[in-house]
Amino acid sequence: MSAASLEQRILGALRDIPDFPEPGVTFKDITPLIADAELFAEVVRAHAQPWQGSVDAVAGLEARGFIFGAAIAVHLGLGFIPVRKGGKLPGPTVGVDYALEYGTARIEIHEDAVAQGSRVLVVDDVLATGGTAAAACTLLESCGAVVPGVEILVEIEALRGRDALAGRAVRSLVTV
Ligand code: PRP
Repeated sequence: MSAASLEQRILGALRDIPDFPEPGVTFKDITPLIADAELFAEVVRAHAQPWQGSVDAVAGLEARGFIFGAAIAVHLGLGFIPVRKGGKLPGPTVGVDYALEYGTARIEIHEDAVAQGSRVLVVDDVLATGGTAAAACTLLESCGAVVPGVEILVEIEALRGRDALAGRAVRSLVTV
């Protein structure tokens, strides 16, 4: 076990990429973190531990939420629900449109992805404006899920994503 806290180690393993995907945006690159087997496993355990025995499925948000969400699902012994961008899933879908800074986006799940009344944990890597995570919660609930919480690796505090998720249990492992 390293002397540095998990939070410090996560922060040390995130790489800032300036002007990606567009000028003025600093992208939080998680690839160094997931390349570190020990740290990746610790992150997955930290996300999963509070939910052991109290959720029925894990939903991950495309694309990087798949990496953490799927690993958390395996850790908890649960199935995984991919929440995909519009037009990617092969079967009949249900979806929701949500606002971006400029324009709109759409996320979808398969219409049979959610068992009625099941408790579905929502997982993503970054919480920025919160629009994506809020839309995912709304979509899953519209399909009969109960969403007891949202697990986030990195919360960008200045963008106030928590406000978009007001009333929900949002837990982030690090805040920047
Ligand atoms: C990023 C991130 C979250 C979302 C957060 O995904 O992984 O899913 O944006 O932003 P928000 O809180 O403002 O909604 P991105 O749209 O870059 O998709 P990708 O993972 O497919 O690249």
